[in-house]
Amino acid sequence: MCRGCHPDISASFFRNAHFKSTIDDKLKFEQKGCESCHGPGKAHIEAKGDKTKIIAFSNLSAKKSLDACLNCHTQQLGRANIRRSSHTTADVICSNCHSMHKPATPRQLLAKPQTDLCYSCHSNVRAQFSMPVKHRVNEGFMQCSDCHNPHGADAPSNRMSARPRMMAHALQNEESCMKCHVDKRGPFVFEHAAVRVDGCNSCHVPHGSMNARLLKRPQVFTLCLECHNGAGNFGRQSDGIQLTPSSHSLTDPKYQNCTLCHTRIHGSNSHASFLR
Ligand code: HEC
Ligand code: HEC
Ligand code: HEC
Ligand code: HEC
Ligand code: HEC
Ligand code: HEC
Ligand code: HEC
Ligand code: HEC
Ligand code: HEC
Ligand code: HEC
Repeated sequence: MCRGCHPDISASFFRNAHFKSTIDDKLKFEQKGCESCHGPGKAHIEAKGDKTKIIAFSNLSAKKSLDACLNCHTQQLGRANIRRSSHTTADVICSNCHSMHKPATPRQLLAKPQTDLCYSCHSNVRAQFSMPVKHRVNEGFMQCSDCHNPHGADAPSNRMSARPRMMAHALQNEESCMKCHVDKRGPFVFEHAAVRVDGCNSCHVPHGSMNARLLKRPQVFTLCLECHNGAGNFGRQSDGIQLTPSSHSLTDPKYQNCTLCHTRIHGSNSHASFLR
């Protein structure tokens, strides 16, 4: 019935992941095809296409539109706590990113190729990925969703609370960085608490930087001294975080490049001070 008056949409519908429902005998009528999203169409057809007699997304509030999709996708996206994500709370909803009838990517039904899609609102991030040291997102080697889940941060589990900034998880609830940088995962016999507890972001900026190795600071030792400065004792009674030992003369240029000697800065299996 719909095809008669909406030929373009109907003709391309077989490519849509939702087409499957039209041929699934186990589903009830209201769960199939066009009507699974637009609701019963009889009144609309009898009124020769009266827009008020069908669920027209162009007329829906952000919340109603979101609910219409979550009718079916709650379980899949619930893990991401979608109703509380930064996008949802800012009224950025499914149809801002997905296009049901004119998708630019047939898989995932995205309104634009992913990187363009994200930059259409986050244009400042493009500049970060154009800096001298960067992850190669603009070059097409990676995507935002390698690190973020645009639907929201994965829900907290017994091992970890939810991460901020809609960060995706790797296996085992780890930082998404571990998907690719597996050598930093450990476990190591001697862990560097900064890596294990504070996380990669305590020393690196993720998008792009002027500094080698995406470090937060241009000089390695200024980064180390942010913590190894004698201040604070991380909850311990007596000895605080290790000071830079007195054997290290910071006026001697030799000692300024800390990772020249502390080469296993992410953790070591053979030396407590990460020398090898
Ligand atoms: C998975 C949910 C879903 C299904 C299934 C679906 N639609 Fe849509 N439809 C939408 C959404 C959402 C919009 C709003 C525009 C957009 O986001 O792409 C829309 C927009 C429309 C529009 C108006 C906008 C336009 O692009 O012209 C028509 C007409 C329409 N749909 C008809 C149909 C027909 C006919 C079918 C079955 C072949 C169908 N829809 C199946 C969700 C759906
Ligand atoms: C007799 C022709 C006819 C049939 C059959 C028909 N439609 Fe429509 N439909 C129209 C017309 C005309 C409009 C545009 C109304 C307007 O813009 O005010 C429309 C609008 C719509 C819209 C609203 C689009 C928007 O602007 O958001 C949706 C959704 C829609 N139709 C879905 C369907 C579905 C689903 C079916 C099958 C169950 C269907 N139509 C069958 C003629 C028809
Ligand atoms: C009636 C249930 C239902 C509704 C309502 C529904 N979907 Fe789906 N959706 C599905 C099913 C089933 C699949 C196919 C899953 C699969 O292929 O295993 C799917 C797949 C998808 C996919 C993935 C396509 C792919 O290639 O992997 C996207 C994106 C999607 N839906 C978005 C939406 C959006 C946006 C809405 C609201 C406009 C919506 N869905 C409404 C049932 C629904
Ligand atoms: C900010 C943009 C954005 C919003 C808002 C958004 N999505 Fe997505 N969605 C994406 C991107 C990007 C992907 C592809 C992710 C990937 O490649 O891992 C995706 C993938 C999907 C998939 C494929 C399966 C999966 O989990 O990878 C489904 C289903 C889906 N979205 C449904 C929805 C529904 C339903 C809504 C609204 C409730 C929604 N999305 C809101 C951007 C968005
Ligand atoms: C329609 C516009 C729009 C699109 C498209 C969009 N975003 Fe957003 N994004 C927003 C808004 C609005 C916010 C919330 C306000 C803010 O923090 O700037 C936001 C926030 C974020 C945040 C910060 C979350 C936080 O808690 O601070 C991340 C990360 C993000 N978006 C990633 C993405 C990614 C990845 C994509 C592409 C898949 C994307 N966005 C697509 C509008 C958009
Ligand atoms: C290599 C992993 C990675 C990739 C790829 C990535 N991000 Fe991020 N992004 C992060 C991390 C980690 C943070 C959190 C930084 C923090 O908390 O200081 C973040 C933060 C953000 C924020 C919030 C920043 C702010 O200043 O509030 C936005 C928005 C964002 N990312 C958007 C994007 C977009 C858009 C893309 C793709 C073009 C993208 N990100 C790709 C890891 C990544
Ligand atoms: C999808 C895979 C992937 C993910 C996820 C990822 N990276 Fe990377 N990363 C790479 C690749 C590939 C390189 C090599 C540099 C290049 O692409 O030119 C790299 C390089 C780096 C570098 C070194 C840059 C240099 O100049 O040598 C650092 C530091 C880094 N990543 C940190 C991170 C952090 C922190 C995260 C998580 C927020 C992360 N990465 C997530 C793939 C990834
Ligand atoms: C205590 C600070 C610190 C933390 C936390 C940290 N890094 Fe590093 N990382 C460094 C320093 C310093 C270098 C540069 C080492 C050099 O120049 O020899 C580096 C270099 C890198 C490199 C490039 C060289 C290499 O060894 O492959 C990658 C990739 C990297 N880090 C990823 C990560 C990831 C992923 C995390 C989180 C699991 C992380 N880093 C946490 C300090 C840190
Ligand atoms: C975010 C804070 C932080 C940063 C930045 C940081 N560290 Fe650490 N580091 C710690 C903590 C916490 C410990 C474990 C507590 C302790 O035993 O002192 C530790 C332990 C160490 C140890 C082992 C001490 C021992 O017991 O033998 C060495 C060596 C070390 N750090 C070197 C460095 C170097 C070199 C840098 C710079 C590349 C650096 N750290 C950056 C927090 C940090
Ligand atoms: C020339 C090589 C070299 C350089 C450069 C160097 N260290 Fe060390 N560091 C050592 C050695 C050797 C030890 C002693 C290891 C041991 O005996 O267990 C050590 C021990 C440490 C310890 C552990 C102290 C303890 O009592 O166990 C910390 C913390 C530390 N260094 C931080 C730094 C920082 C921060 C920098 C950069 C400002 C730096 N180191 C630069 C060689 C170096």
